[in-house]
Amino acid sequence: MAQEKILIIDFGSQYNQLIARKIRELNVFCEIVPPTISADSINLTDTKGIILSGGPASVYSKGAPVCDNRLFSLGIPVLGICYGMQLMAKTLGGKVERAHSREYGRAAFTVTNHRLLFKNVPKRIITWMSHGDKVKTMPRSFKRIGMSRNTSVAAFGNFDKNLFGVQFHPEVAHTEHGKEILKNFVKEICRAKCNWSMKSFVKETIDDIRKTAGRDKVILGLSGGVDSSVAAVLINKAIGHRLACIFVDNGLLRKNEARLVREVFQRHFKINLKVVDASEEFITALRGVVDPEKKRKIIGRTFIKVFDREAKKIGNVKFLAQGTLYPDLIESRSAFGGPSATIKTHHNVGGLPKKMNLKLIEPLKYLFKDEVRRVGRELKIPQEVLGRHPFPGPGLAVRIIGDITKERCDILREVDDRFIQVLRKEGLYDQIWQAFAVLLPIKSVGVMGDERTYESVVAIRAVTSVDGMTADWAKIPYDALGKISNRIINEVKGVNRVAYDISSKPPSTIEWE
Ligand code: XMP
Repeated sequence: MAQEKILIIDFGSQYNQLIARKIRELNVFCEIVPPTISADSINLTDTKGIILSGGPASVYSKGAPVCDNRLFSLGIPVLGICYGMQLMAKTLGGKVERAHSREYGRAAFTVTNHRLLFKNVPKRIITWMSHGDKVKTMPRSFKRIGMSRNTSVAAFGNFDKNLFGVQFHPEVAHTEHGKEILKNFVKEICRAKCNWSMKSFVKETIDDIRKTAGRDKVILGLSGGVDSSVAAVLINKAIGHRLACIFVDNGLLRKNEARLVREVFQRHFKINLKVVDASEEFITALRGVVDPEKKRKIIGRTFIKVFDREAKKIGNVKFLAQGTLYPDLIESRSAFGGPSATIKTHHNVGGLPKKMNLKLIEPLKYLFKDEVRRVGRELKIPQEVLGRHPFPGPGLAVRIIGDITKERCDILREVDDRFIQVLRKEGLYDQIWQAFAVLLPIKSVGVMGDERTYESVVAIRAVTSVDGMTADWAKIPYDALGKISNRIINEVKGVNRVAYDISSKPPSTIEWE
């Protein structure tokens, strides 16, 4: 059975991802599409509703985005939000004008008609608005269903054709009963079944992958992180051993990382996994390099070389699988339907697909990070993998300040391991977004068992964050910090001092390099 969905037409609102989240929370699948989408390409059976998003433009400004006019006569319910409402009004013969008093932020809203869209919504609610234009004259056959102090038509509807518009943003948390309003649109107006779940996602995605890949081979660069791990298990379930995963041990990984990946994926999931030990190749290429950007470039290049070599050994590969997520896809596309995701996804493996003429399989490209974790749970991927802190592609290389040698990598691996062990034991690991150690290029004097020592200093860093874009240093209790420091200094040879990094992002970054 085809998946029911709601289409969200993207006019550039900063809240588009929020609309998608809210719809999915109602257990209905939804997709954000550019305004250039043609009415002919819309599947009338699967598409239960269309939402026209807000956006920064004015419907009368030059180059303002429009949509295919025929969308309004497909017989599919449409909800216009802010710019989407104004566009609907203008397209269907109404009038939009510049508002004398613009409304930004909180605005009191009065429901004047409780049928369908505002069913069970109180008469007076606080809404969130952000608009400079407003609907002056409604198109024919439209009725006003809500008003605010400065906007007499702040919501309207054509009940025969199921076309509705709201000037406020029901998707933001500040709009009271916003969720109820979206639910009314989805359930009462679109009559969607609301049966989308991670279980159904897994089943449908597996069917899709089978159809796409046919009898061909697929390769995937497995990093052991959440996204590539979930993608690997999903594709493996679909095509079994025709998926080849390549895990490159670049010598810059955390302690036991290669072992963990091998155990989880080969033993638990019987995935066709090749672990390539390229650590010497990487460490040699990095010899004497201290500049962070140069380190990153060398690592990227070496990774491609190794991956390319291994892919050729497998032979006859037609697809490259990646764990691209929805935010990556949306962020790499302009609001008005510019170039698609390929620039970014190619960038993930540094141009590899182009050179090798591989087609992409990205089974997670419509999911958000927490949804990927839910899929992971559905696939019975151990929490040990799903709950892991993010780890940067260049690995320990950007946490070893100065020269990279195997010995320095070994020291940092041990330090990191003790740090994480204590966090887990103290029940702090899951409260922290990311925690790691940094090896500094300085030595300090210490005293151990009556002997003078002159050894390395390490910094430990733990941050709280939602998305890694901004972060604060984690307030680890002193007691736990004491345990961390003791274990590191007592157990890791070559380190005699531990410092705790108390910088937020911005102005610092999470990683040191
Ligand atoms: P920064 O240091 O920029 O890091 O504040 C934000 C988040 O991104 C991770 N990070 C990377 N991840 N390749 C990656 O896959 C990279 O080159 C890279 N650099 C930083 C970092 O660990 C943090 O979670």
